[in-house]
Amino acid sequence: MPFHIVVLPGDGIGPEVTQAARQVLDAAAAHYKLTLNYTEHLIGGCAIDQLGTALDDATLAECQQADAVLLGAVGGPKWDDPTAPVRPEQGLLALRKGLGVFANLRPVRVYPALIDASPLRPEKLRGVDLLVVRELTGGLYFGQPKRRLEENGRRGAVDSLFYWDYEIERVVELAFQLAAARRGRLASVDKANVLETSRLWRQIVQQVAQRYPQVQVEHVLVDTAAMRLVASPAAFDVIVTENMFGDILTDEAAVLAGSMGLLPSASLGAAGGGLYEPIHGSAPDIAGQGIANPLGAILSAALLLRYGLKQESAARAVEQAVERALQEGCRTRDLGGSLSTQAMTEAVLERLSFEHPS
Ligand code: NAD
Ligand code: IPM
Ligand code: MN
Repeated sequence: MPFHIVVLPGDGIGPEVTQAARQVLDAAAAHYKLTLNYTEHLIGGCAIDQLGTALDDATLAECQQADAVLLGAVGGPKWDDPTAPVRPEQGLLALRKGLGVFANLRPVRVYPALIDASPLRPEKLRGVDLLVVRELTGGLYFGQPKRRLEENGRRGAVDSLFYWDYEIERVVELAFQLAAARRGRLASVDKANVLETSRLWRQIVQQVAQRYPQVQVEHVLVDTAAMRLVASPAAFDVIVTENMFGDILTDEAAVLAGSMGLLPSASLGAAGGGLYEPIHGSAPDIAGQGIANPLGAILSAALLLRYGLKQESAARAVEQAVERALQEGCRTRDLGGSLSTQAMTEAVLERLSFEHPS
């Protein structure tokens, strides 16, 4: 059975890193005799320039039918005018909403070989292996009203933080399942001392917790969580949190790993093959130079193999090849080395071994 993968390279380094991820997917497909049919479409700034919209209906419809969607990144200074009628990021938000991918899994590992790439002290970093489950289709990103106001010559703006109970419950439920399958610890991150949505969030976490007695759950305020993420990161197992808190905490967590360029993500919903993208952006400062770290995109391709195509062995083989490349000293510039995007990709391809990935 052929798999259909929609590739949305996007802007900036997006095309550079999705190209790398495709090479790795192709190598895995060749070994496991999978047929991967790709179609590529515009999203973000390049789509605004060519189609007048950040995500057109036909592309979204194709993504909804696909076995998985692989995305690079969107955005850049060209489209950053605060008065512009349409922004690249709207395409990404419409895609996430249109696919119904309410849970964004962002695993954060510290590879022993990269302990020195982080500004944190090595003893803080040992054993860090956490998973942030970020709510992705609700909260501040999507709440209504969201608009500009003008009154008595003053300009104002409003964004709304809103959650329905079921939106919280489905992502929390998944986080409990994931925690139960890992080290059995779940930190629910909120701001319940201030926000009504967070108090609802806490109540729902407590309800769902009844069904998972094997999971030890704690509630952590987001400001404390930001501090603990750098003070004692190895103490975390699974973190579940609302959309914007998860966005901010995972950029912070990237510092543990050593670079923004390393972290992958999988966005999953109730149905469909999911959306896979590195957590970094379009990196306009290095775009077009062929020096972006492709590992976040390659590890996202591994998650695509695991969750989208249900090819666990292939996913592990890719993850192990990345780990070996790092262990053997392969480094792009963000990690203090000099390998180009393509050279790093080849380093991973050379180390792909499909014999008994453990
Ligand atoms: P960014 O993640 O693009 O870059 C932050 C820093 O990390 C930069 O110095 C960049 O060079 C570095 N970096 C990021 N990815 C890297 C990689 N793979 N290899 C090496 N270095 C890497 O964040 P930003 O500069 O704040 O945002 C730029 C644009 O990207 C904005 O328009 C933003 O909206 C967009 N963005 C998009 C996504 C997405 O599409 N999922 C995610 C985040 C930001
Ligand atoms: C991310 C990005 C996006 C987000 C932006 C580009 C809309 O920062 O994927 O982390 O905030 O979700
Ligand atoms: Mn982000």
